[in-house]
Amino acid sequence: MKLSYLVSLLSFISQAQSVLEVIQAATPPRSDLGTPTCRQEVFTHDFGNSYGSPYVGYYTPPSHCVYSTTIFNLSVVSKGRQYDRLATLWLGDVEVWRTSTAMPTQTGIHWSFQKDMTIWDTLLRSQDPQKIIFELNNIIDGDRYTGVFNATLEALYFNDVYEGKDGLHPAEHIYAISTQSSPSNTTSLFSLPGDSGAVNLTFPRNAKTAVVSIMASGNGAEEFWFTNVPTEYINTFPGNEGWLYGYSPFREVQLLIDGQLAGVSWPFPILFTGGVDPGAWRPIVGIDAYELPSFEIDVTPWLGLLTDGQPHNFALRVVGYDISAEDGIGPVGENWWVSGSVFVWVDKTSKQTTTKGFKSEISSPLFDFQPTLGTFIAADGILEDHERRAESSSFLEPRCFVF
Ligand SMILES: *[C@@H]1O[C@H](CO)[C@@H](O)[C@H](O)[C@H]1NC(C)=O
Ligand SMILES: *[C@@H]1O[C@H](CO)[C@@H](O)[C@H](O)[C@H]1NC(C)=O
Ligand SMILES: *[C@@H]1O[C@H](CO)[C@@H](O)[C@H](O)[C@H]1NC(C)=O
Ligand SMILES: *[C@@H]1O[C@H](CO)[C@@H](O)[C@H](O)[C@H]1NC(C)=O
Repeated sequence: MKLSYLVSLLSFISQAQSVLEVIQAATPPRSDLGTPTCRQEVFTHDFGNSYGSPYVGYYTPPSHCVYSTTIFNLSVVSKGRQYDRLATLWLGDVEVWRTSTAMPTQTGIHWSFQKDMTIWDTLLRSQDPQKIIFELNNIIDGDRYTGVFNATLEALYFNDVYEGKDGLHPAEHIYAISTQSSPSNTTSLFSLPGDSGAVNLTFPRNAKTAVVSIMASGNGAEEFWFTNVPTEYINTFPGNEGWLYGYSPFREVQLLIDGQLAGVSWPFPILFTGGVDPGAWRPIVGIDAYELPSFEIDVTPWLGLLTDGQPHNFALRVVGYDISAEDGIGPVGENWWVSGSVFVWVDKTSKQTTTKGFKSEISSPLFDFQPTLGTFIAADGILEDHERRAESSSFLEPRCFVF
């Protein structure tokens, strides 16, 4: 055997056995991550049989470090057989990162992902120790599920200069729309539709800007909500009742302030690494799998109502399409994991914010639904006629918010 052939064969084998990097295609949070002013490890924790046992610790800002930008670098290694798992990172009651895992192989995988945490600056700079909770519910049962997720969270700090007349001004207050369970060392996700999704918050009287940021993802009968059918069709295939999940493929996440609709968002379908075909997500996971997106609703027009020094109710709700409802809006299945945070900036030169002439007009979404679907199966079992109203246009007209 030629030596060169042997060498390339050996290198092929060692490559095949080396730990595979599984990436997510995404724009890095910063063009250069290589030269931080300082860095520190936040925690390292092995998630074996970890159902209901999150990592709980404390975050302290670095001492003697001048910085403006904080980037978290989450790194995970895993080896064996394991499902994809959802994981959430919390600063106290506030969810700051929702991620999911890649599925490991027998020879092992690893990944690192970076997220810019600077919007949470007020929590991260807090001189009181800030509780940090990372939940990754995993199962090890000895023979079927063997893959532990070994996770390390590291913080990188950069002394960036922010352009513009105001420079960097992170929100002075951040409030949680969550179950606020961190005192008992657990995460604070609402499970909808079972939970209330609501909290009462009292704003500072001199608030000048307020933005609500929401995270929401479907789970169980709602993981593939975008393939669900209108409820009246769940028994379409005789003998296969219950195979189709209901409430339609439309989902709207709503924010209500004192019971009034203040904004909505339509979630983006996330395919986790166990979804559709697990082989498709290695070595590149689906869009947003390592950083599930949040969406923001500017509630500044509501400040006239919110700066009266009284508590106000902030509620999150997930709704679907219901053919029998007048406005088309109906319930959803189990379940959606939902949480939100409210970023509030204050005007330090003023004691009381006032507004004039606020009124809101919100249109209902318009649905045009063409349900005609005909099939005919001949006596010999051949599908002979498959008539569809393909020409009919199905559309959804988004809501319109005018303040
Ligand atoms: C993130 O952490 C991993 C593991 O410690 C390391 O290999 C990687 O270089 C880090 N990434 C950055 C941008 O610092
Ligand atoms: C919560 O976790 C912290 C940090 O690990 C620990 O010091 C504390 O005792 C825990 N509290 C409860 C109520 O379990
Ligand atoms: C991951 O954690 C498990 C359980 O603690 C441990 O046996 C294994 O050696 C760890 N793997 C790595 C690469 O650190
Ligand atoms: C919010 O306040 C109202 C009125 O006091 C009360 O009925 C409701 O239970 C409170 N909701 C929460 C989530 O605390």
